[in-house]
Amino acid sequence: MSRSPMIVRTVPALRRALDGLRARKATIALVPTMGALHDGHVSLVRLAKGRARKVIVSIFVNPTQFAPTEDFGSYPRTWKADVSRLAAEDVDLIWNPDVKVMYPEGFATRIVPEGPAVAGLEDRFRPHFFGGVATVVGKLFTQVRPDFAIFGEKDFQQLRVVAQMAGDLDLRVKVIGSRTVRERDGLAMSSRNVYLTPGERQVAPVLYRAMKESAKRLRAGDDVEAAMAGGRELITNAGFIVDYFEVRHAVTLAPIASVKDGPARILVAARLGKTRLIDNLGV
Ligand code: PAF
Repeated sequence: MSRSPMIVRTVPALRRALDGLRARKATIALVPTMGALHDGHVSLVRLAKGRARKVIVSIFVNPTQFAPTEDFGSYPRTWKADVSRLAAEDVDLIWNPDVKVMYPEGFATRIVPEGPAVAGLEDRFRPHFFGGVATVVGKLFTQVRPDFAIFGEKDFQQLRVVAQMAGDLDLRVKVIGSRTVRERDGLAMSSRNVYLTPGERQVAPVLYRAMKESAKRLRAGDDVEAAMAGGRELITNAGFIVDYFEVRHAVTLAPIASVKDGPARILVAARLGKTRLIDNLGV
């Protein structure tokens, strides 16, 4: 039978709870989220449970990773449903600070990531994003001091940025990427999929089809430019505006001239109506 997770909202209460959870040297895995949980998040929690004795899920919609023009105000917030899902997964603790707890009056320190954070992908279109993510994840890591932290591969550049930060700052946490969970038609699960109209939802899986098509051509030895142009065209013809559709080195995220210079990963961001979707695929 599942029990309700402990819900904690202040730093002193978190410290007390962590002392309890760490009794008998239990290992801890952290799953950082912004709530609006879907099956993709549940797969992160299950991976966390396989790695550590205790699982903490943070739910915090982080204002510093949204630009003023973005959807911070309207980002889906589904607290009750999230708690039920986490209870069903037997999560031990939900860390749910509010903005004043994470960024109290006078807060003046930020992490400015480089390397994969300035690869010219998401950062080109959302220049504020990785600074906000690195700062909040840096805080989550120091607050919780987890042994493991699980991030979805769907946000592939984010995963690389966080892993780089943890290594560069000698944090003890092991950052683990979890495979993207897809709908039956290939659309990657995302909290922002709820923004798609029914018509757009029908079209959206073309992103996955285009990546698969380009990956196949790259594996067959096609020229990078030609293989990527083919995928880009498929996406554009379906009605998307493409921000980027590129093949990069899967670790550094640097451009590569051939998949032989890999491991290679295709990364895409494209806008359909008011919704911006991102996805990626190993080649
Ligand atoms: O991927 C997300 O949900 C967020 O970017 C994260 C990692 C929880 C930081 O706010």
